[in-house]
Amino acid sequence: MTLTPRLTASQLDLDQIATMTGRLAIVIPPSRQLGQAARRINRLTKGALTRFVESDAFEKLETGKARELAYPTGLACTGLLVVKLGNQASVEDARKGGAEIGKVLDETGGTVIPGTLKRVDDLALGVSLRAYAFCDHKGAGAKQAAMDVTFAMTKPETLDIASVDARAQGVYFTRDLVSEPANVLTTTEFAARLSALSDLGVKVEVLEEADLEKLGMRALLCVGQGSVSPSKVVVMQWNGGAKGDAPLALVGKGVVFDTGGISIKPAAGMEDMTMDMGGAGVVSGVMKTLALRKANKNVIGLVGLVENMPDGNAIRPGDVVRSMKGDTVEIINTDAEGRLVLCDVLWYAQEKFKPRAIVDLATLTGAIIIGLGHDNAGVFSNDDAFCNAFLKSAKAEGEGAWRMPLGESYDKQLKSDIADMKNVGGRPAGSITAAQFLQRFVKDDMPWIHLDIAGVASVKSETALAPKGATGWGVLALDRLVDDLAV
Ligand code: BES
Ligand code: MN
Ligand code: ZN
Repeated sequence: MTLTPRLTASQLDLDQIATMTGRLAIVIPPSRQLGQAARRINRLTKGALTRFVESDAFEKLETGKARELAYPTGLACTGLLVVKLGNQASVEDARKGGAEIGKVLDETGGTVIPGTLKRVDDLALGVSLRAYAFCDHKGAGAKQAAMDVTFAMTKPETLDIASVDARAQGVYFTRDLVSEPANVLTTTEFAARLSALSDLGVKVEVLEEADLEKLGMRALLCVGQGSVSPSKVVVMQWNGGAKGDAPLALVGKGVVFDTGGISIKPAAGMEDMTMDMGGAGVVSGVMKTLALRKANKNVIGLVGLVENMPDGNAIRPGDVVRSMKGDTVEIINTDAEGRLVLCDVLWYAQEKFKPRAIVDLATLTGAIIIGLGHDNAGVFSNDDAFCNAFLKSAKAEGEGAWRMPLGESYDKQLKSDIADMKNVGGRPAGSITAAQFLQRFVKDDMPWIHLDIAGVASVKSETALAPKGATGWGVLALDRLVDDLAV
């Protein structure tokens, strides 16, 4: 169980402010104009609020930041959080302001008074996303229930809690999956958690090893053949759109643990490879959000779930495998496994579902972290219009994304002497040659985006909207893209 807030909106009652427990947060604009509730708080605290709001400290506080006045006299709350936000605050600032609140919330929860702020939904989403904590495996005492957060408003009906929740729950789902250790989130457990999405109306199908064998997915299967966990492909269908409308396909790399296989990784940092299913995690989170908000579009999520382990039965460097498409791959490095998983799922997605467009997501290369760090995912595409639509969605959601090139000369790096291609292209342009490998499994006229999320799926320090660890990067952008794509 993770610790997450439970949001409600209620009618603001000035007479209840004094007795509100937990955290009390109030939004104050840079103009310093105090609304009704702020004036009441000021009176109750004998002027403490105006002392702060008229101070240099408030002047210097950045928009979207907050300062807490602890245990204020005259109020029952444990802290009064003053969030600096103009009425017309941008989406990004409103979410940041919310995150300032979410960051300090504990299981006692609290009340938020947004005052005359316009984007209360974004404030609430910021609270929700930042208040998340993954504490499944902490001692029993740390297993907390949801914390209650009330938005006290003059027009509570204007806060669309269902919409905020749909998005937050999708992001939480992704973060939970990415945070789980590999002994808990085996391929079987992963498939079970996805099967549970059927409760929300998602049609879920699990393809087992025998099915994959029949389909000829030897590239995917060879990655998992050293593991005791069976390889699987899970297909999630959300059919909220018109019958017969070609779906958008989302394809995710779900390597539940990546040791590197026989080309084994160094020990230092190998524990981070529990997040190597991040692409599949994002696909799963998006499907959950789409179902929760009953999106009126057709979207298919496909994830390849495998574990890359060294073993007597594992694939070797030098082995040659045949993909479902029919092309053969010489395995030079068993640590370049993600592309082997994706190439078969990409091909299957096209053959089986004839999608209108495909987005794949994968923690594919360390090289993308060298190139772009942790602020931007690498974006590769064969279609400018589709790519621009995604970049626009990502920007609107504040999720960093940067387009990278593709090109024939990079593709040449994959030439093999004995097979149709090698699975690695050498050190230069490592992220691009990985993308070139994938593109060989994308049909010519198929609009396609590949997102290399190795740098953004999980981070070592907190971000604006997430505690350190799994971020859920991409869920919001893709959720938006689903609506933004012209029908
Ligand atoms: N899962 C890794 C990529 C990765 C690295 C993700 C760091 C997150 C953080 C991937 O399977 C991998 O091992 N890639 C190799 C490719 C190489 C062998 C061509 C890499 O990046 O070193
Ligand atoms: Mn690897
Ligand atoms: Zn990997």
